[in-house]
Amino acid sequence: MKFFIDTANLEAIKEIKAMGMCDGVTTNPSLMAKEGDKDTNALLKRICDVVQGPVSGEVTALDAEGMIAEGKKLAALSEYIVVKIPTTFEGLKATAALAAEGIPVNATLIFSVNQALLMAKAGASYVSPFVGRLDDVGEDGMQLVSDIVEVYEQYGYETEVLVASVRHPMHVVDSALLGADVATIPPEIIKKLVAHPLTDKGLAAFMSDWEKLQGGK
Ligand code: E4P
Repeated sequence: MKFFIDTANLEAIKEIKAMGMCDGVTTNPSLMAKEGDKDTNALLKRICDVVQGPVSGEVTALDAEGMIAEGKKLAALSEYIVVKIPTTFEGLKATAALAAEGIPVNATLIFSVNQALLMAKAGASYVSPFVGRLDDVGEDGMQLVSDIVEVYEQYGYETEVLVASVRHPMHVVDSALLGADVATIPPEIIKKLVAHPLTDKGLAAFMSDWEKLQGGK
């Protein structure tokens, strides 16, 4: 499973890239706003230069024509840009147009199998089911991932299932068990994935025994 990092913070991306855990990056307008840099295109370009892999940048227009124009501008920033398009009626039109020109699209804000099916038919390269936001309203986010994976397998769609709105380590485990292509993970969750109290306890015991041995020379 590929790990994308769900952030626009360049320092966090560099740190996780150095660990070999960054196959790509996803951003959205809220993540961009968190960085406080109004030149979002320059920031996206810097992220692409560091990542050297797929980097999702989201359009802010709500009509197809605007999305297409914005998507083309984003795609011109770097060969690594994936244009993030909201899953709406207008978004479907924009996705079909951009995909026809060979521009990769990440269909965002996916909350149903039908939305994922439509975006695959429109030619999206990725669909992003938001599992955490579904869990928040009492629905089963991972069930949606499982259903999309099953439908795509049944019909041979090449659109990749990118699990988004990841909130805790079990979302990552479940994404891998279900065969999702990608999980986009916030930096703080990446750090939680490696932590285990028995690792810390075992390491402390090894160090203590080693120090005793050195002291006994
Ligand atoms: C993914 O592409 C989105 O940027 C992100 O995963 C949304 O996560 P949130 O629901 O925690 O805001």
